[in-house]
Amino acid sequence: MSTDIPLLETKLLSKTFDAGEDSIQPLQSINFTAKSGNFIAIMGPSGSGKTTLLNLMAGLDKPTDGKVLFEGKDVVQMSEKELTQFRRHSLGFVFQSFMLMPLLSAFENVELVLRIAGVGASQRKDRTLKALEMVGMSHRMNHRPHELSGGEKQRVAIARATVSDPYIIFADEPTAELDSINAQAIFSIFKQLTIEKGMTVITTTHDATLIDMASEVYEIRDGVLHRKVATN
Ligand SMILES: Nc1ncnc2c1ncn2[C@@H]1O[C@H](COP(=O)(O)OP(=O)(O)OP(=O)(O)O)[C@@H](O)[C@H]1O
Ligand SMILES: [Mg+2]
Repeated sequence: MSTDIPLLETKLLSKTFDAGEDSIQPLQSINFTAKSGNFIAIMGPSGSGKTTLLNLMAGLDKPTDGKVLFEGKDVVQMSEKELTQFRRHSLGFVFQSFMLMPLLSAFENVELVLRIAGVGASQRKDRTLKALEMVGMSHRMNHRPHELSGGEKQRVAIARATVSDPYIIFADEPTAELDSINAQAIFSIFKQLTIEKGMTVITTTHDATLIDMASEVYEIRDGVLHRKVATN
């Protein structure tokens, strides 16, 4: 990977939703740069556009205006096939409600990503075990999601997001359903991923007590992204 081109950039990124007579413009000309290995937290009140921004950066939604550049390549201009490849190989996703497959064990949930990517059986097992180990869930790998606590489910979901060695993990409110101890633990894992594996984590959160762990904090206010200066 080239070091002089930022991993992910947005340039004058805007999004307008047409809702009948009222149109809503949650994002106005957002310029943002994410470098490799950073842990980036995005805050902002409900409805400020955090999810919209994540979806645009991950190529899940199209902007009204502006660009999303991944290693200099415009995500907005990618074909559906290129977008699928981009999401499968370069990105990992973590959601508020975990989104694990209920009938699969923790191991099978993580392994499924590699099955879909066509990875052979022995490598699949090896990589799945390593990913579960990284989040401290090896001992529960044969359990199904309903047998796990919220914090444990989210750890499995992080193992699933990281098993394909993506460059960027997008996490939308990953701690919203967790108590403060589990929320701290999830953010610690994110920090560890950025430090030990050089992954970039971009997460949204409402929880101001967690943001000290991030290397960069932003806030969306009135459609504009503001960099928050660390106070500690
Ligand atoms: N598909 C859509 N159609 C119309 N309006 C939408 C759509 N998606 C989002 N919006 C509006 O865009 C604004 C931003 O929504 P978004 O979900 O990005 O906010 P958010 O910051 O993630 O909020 P929360 O903290 O509640 O998750 C809101 O006013 C929302 O109602
Ligand atoms: Mg949201």
